[in-house]
Amino acid sequence: MATLLIKNIGCLQTPVGSFAHGGASQGENLKLYDASVYIEDGIIRKISADGALAHSEDDVDTVVDAEGRLVTPGLVEGHTHLVFGGYRQNEIPLKLKGAGYLDILRAGGGILDTVRKTREATFQELYDKTEGFLDEMMGLGVTTAEAKSGYGIDLETEVKLLEVLKKLNEDHPMDIVSTFMPAHVVLPEWKGREAEFIKLCIDEMMPYVKERNLAEYIDIFTEDSVFDKEQSRIYLEEARKLGFGLKIHADEIESIGGSVLAGEMKAASAEHLIVINEEGMQSLAKGGTVAMLLPATSFYLGATFAPARRMVELGIPVAMASDFNPGSCPSLNLQFVMNLGYLKYRLTPEEILTAVTINPACAIGRGHLVGTLEEGKQADLVIWDAPNVEMLCYRFGSNLALQTIKKGILV
Ligand code: NIG
Ligand code: FE
Repeated sequence: MATLLIKNIGCLQTPVGSFAHGGASQGENLKLYDASVYIEDGIIRKISADGALAHSEDDVDTVVDAEGRLVTPGLVEGHTHLVFGGYRQNEIPLKLKGAGYLDILRAGGGILDTVRKTREATFQELYDKTEGFLDEMMGLGVTTAEAKSGYGIDLETEVKLLEVLKKLNEDHPMDIVSTFMPAHVVLPEWKGREAEFIKLCIDEMMPYVKERNLAEYIDIFTEDSVFDKEQSRIYLEEARKLGFGLKIHADEIESIGGSVLAGEMKAASAEHLIVINEEGMQSLAKGGTVAMLLPATSFYLGATFAPARRMVELGIPVAMASDFNPGSCPSLNLQFVMNLGYLKYRLTPEEILTAVTINPACAIGRGHLVGTLEEGKQADLVIWDAPNVEMLCYRFGSNLALQTIKKGILV
């Protein structure tokens, strides 16, 4: 049995309970001072506070001295497009000349460009590149990550992306939750035939992916010039019948009803929500859907920021993620997302911690395992070079994760 004791924790801060926290409970964190954590075989066995040791130091394999620092749950990254060929730095001069995200896409660039490069890339090239991203994420304090396909569009390439994620989930310490997203863009050959493409997804792609257990969730880009609300509903209804959890890219650029649909269908999460209206928020609140907010994408698109405070007021569980992808957010730094949550969403440090731990964990079906520090849960933690979460939300541009611990192992 492998054992680890983390002692001298100045402040251990964590949400409590394996459920998505909305309303007032979004801002409720447990704070234990002068704490210690005892871990056996990757599971938290005991947490002590006020100077009491969780286990005798003489009787453990490894002792880590946190030297008075902050310890939180490992961060849970709830939304990425992690596997892709190439990059899109060539779009920046176009953006600076005034081209919008959808202008570039309509002109054959954007996601379409990444689809071309992803189809050209080999399994091994994609594996190596994605492995590098996972290493970087872990160094920044992330211990569980959602990852979407969506740059293949054809079944063969989509499966290649999901296979890369499956292999990395086996090989890399990061826990990866895969989402199948063939309805990420309308390729030129499908323009005007979107309904037929949706039928192809339903009849051929979804059953293939489900039979091979390559993804737990399904996602769709419900957006102007992409898929409309009714196409999205049909796609999601069929996905649900096959056993996929539901996610929607909703209200990112134009409000065309994606978040209303997410609430109506009681989706696990609705993602982006930059231009969500009151009707959409009421629907999410009613459906118990997690709002997966992506403020670094707002930053990078030069867009407005989702109305996070109003969502908390309405009791919608708010999560925050990076949206890491080569177009709208080429950053995987969840610490920066926390900074934006503080300054742009005006969330409190406690609400922010909930938004990057237990709430995204619940949105990807892992709330029972990770997202809080509690006895019996997986020992995924971060020792921060900071005394409190407020400092994490305030400092930006540096990596304050001093030591990431995954299943009781120092990584
Ligand atoms: O979440 N909106 C759709 N998908 C991504 C962007 C993907 C890309 O631009 O490559 C997003 O912003
Ligand atoms: Fe996205």
